[in-house]
Amino acid sequence: MAWKNYLDREQDRFVSELTEFVSIPSVSAKPENAADVQRAAEWVASRLTEAGGENVEVLQTAGHPVVCGNWLHAGPDRPTVLVYGHFDVQPAEPFELWSSPPFEPEVRDGRLFGRGATDDKGSMLIPILATEAMLKSAGRLPINLRFFFEGQEEIGSPDMPDFVAANAHRLSADMIFSADGAQWAPDQPQIIEGLRGIASVEIVVRGADSDQHSGLHGGGIANPAMALAQILASMKSPDGHITVEGFYDDVVPLTEDDRAAIAEVPFDAEAYLAETGAPAEHGEPGYTTRERLWARPTLEINGLTSGWQGAGTKTVLPAEARAKITCRLVADQSPERIVEALRAHVERHAPDGVTVEFEAGAARGNPFLVPRGHNASVVAAQVLEEIYGRAPLRTRVGGSIPVMTMLLEHVGVHATMFAFQHDDENLHGPDEFVRLDAFRRGQEAYCRLFESL
Ligand code: BES
Ligand code: MN
Ligand code: MN
Repeated sequence: MAWKNYLDREQDRFVSELTEFVSIPSVSAKPENAADVQRAAEWVASRLTEAGGENVEVLQTAGHPVVCGNWLHAGPDRPTVLVYGHFDVQPAEPFELWSSPPFEPEVRDGRLFGRGATDDKGSMLIPILATEAMLKSAGRLPINLRFFFEGQEEIGSPDMPDFVAANAHRLSADMIFSADGAQWAPDQPQIIEGLRGIASVEIVVRGADSDQHSGLHGGGIANPAMALAQILASMKSPDGHITVEGFYDDVVPLTEDDRAAIAEVPFDAEAYLAETGAPAEHGEPGYTTRERLWARPTLEINGLTSGWQGAGTKTVLPAEARAKITCRLVADQSPERIVEALRAHVERHAPDGVTVEFEAGAARGNPFLVPRGHNASVVAAQVLEEIYGRAPLRTRVGGSIPVMTMLLEHVGVHATMFAFQHDDENLHGPDEFVRLDAFRRGQEAYCRLFESL
């Protein structure tokens, strides 16, 4: 296989290109990095062109851009495949927890460390490199190929509903593979059959028009931090059941088959606690931890801010308190209905003496389930089994990729995750890394996938 020699020969160059890519701080959440997201888009476009991609374009949206390209010369009897990935990354803060600077990637022990190294820059580069290997060594691909890379996945893809609807002609395909996703472990592949959806909101509670002396005014006016704590406490009972009115209304109950499929995947509670460092498992009663992670909805406070955060005591009665919340959703919940349920709940539970503002966030994604036996997943499973020497587990993940259901709606195809991240690679955290052997193996997997289609 000529492509295999090409991959072997060029691997060092690929790693230095990944280093260059990860060096671009394309943090989609931070307005001050918008030009870097654009720069990452241009980097992707030029790298894809160099690989032999055609009609490569950086397409603007109301927010961060998209990169599309294709290679469509395999002939009409061959399938057309769409590959998806994202070139934006999560914020890297707190910087001081990194062993090396997040945007100055460093290789240690066969791992490349940097923000986005695995999620999703390393992963989305893989199909580009596989394409290059096939085109440069054989002059052609066995399939027709389209690429769709976005720059706003990590903020919930706010402009992608419009983009996907308006650009369905650039995205049309018989099969879709997502280069965002993961394998179970370096020696164990998986087919991901479900992702959760997401809805985000922010609650702002205001009292006095500036911070007040808590001795002079405590007892005279309400405290926004306490009011916020009361609102938040009204949303969930201590046992983990969500008490927002209507929250579970659209949840499709788990069937015995669903529960059996989830139970088939090994779960080691001790290892899970060791991995997270948490003292105990916790969550909604009546479900296993794995069920709660993969197939039940959640409501989590992601950020909570009010008052004095510095050393010692400051006797202040804060003027304001804020909470950022996201819910993970499962079939058939919709982010819009959940946001409205939360809004109504917060209005009903707003304490006296403060004003409560409720804002819907930009991150919205529908839950995504891939039917078992889906054509592209079957081929992906065969390729993974060949490469790993083990049959893939059938899993779900608790995370979200909002664009998956948009592609289902407008292209009419369920995406199959074909990606080589691993959960222990500190995605979104300090010291994110990609295993370079998995990076290499992923390139081979994509070549074999293209061949077997
Ligand atoms: N790549 C992740 C999602 C993921 C993780 C899929 C592991 C499969 C396995 C993705 O980049 C992500 O982090 N999504 C965000 C979306 C949100 C910001 C709208 C998430 O899940 O928090
Ligand atoms: Mn990702
Ligand atoms: Mn991510």
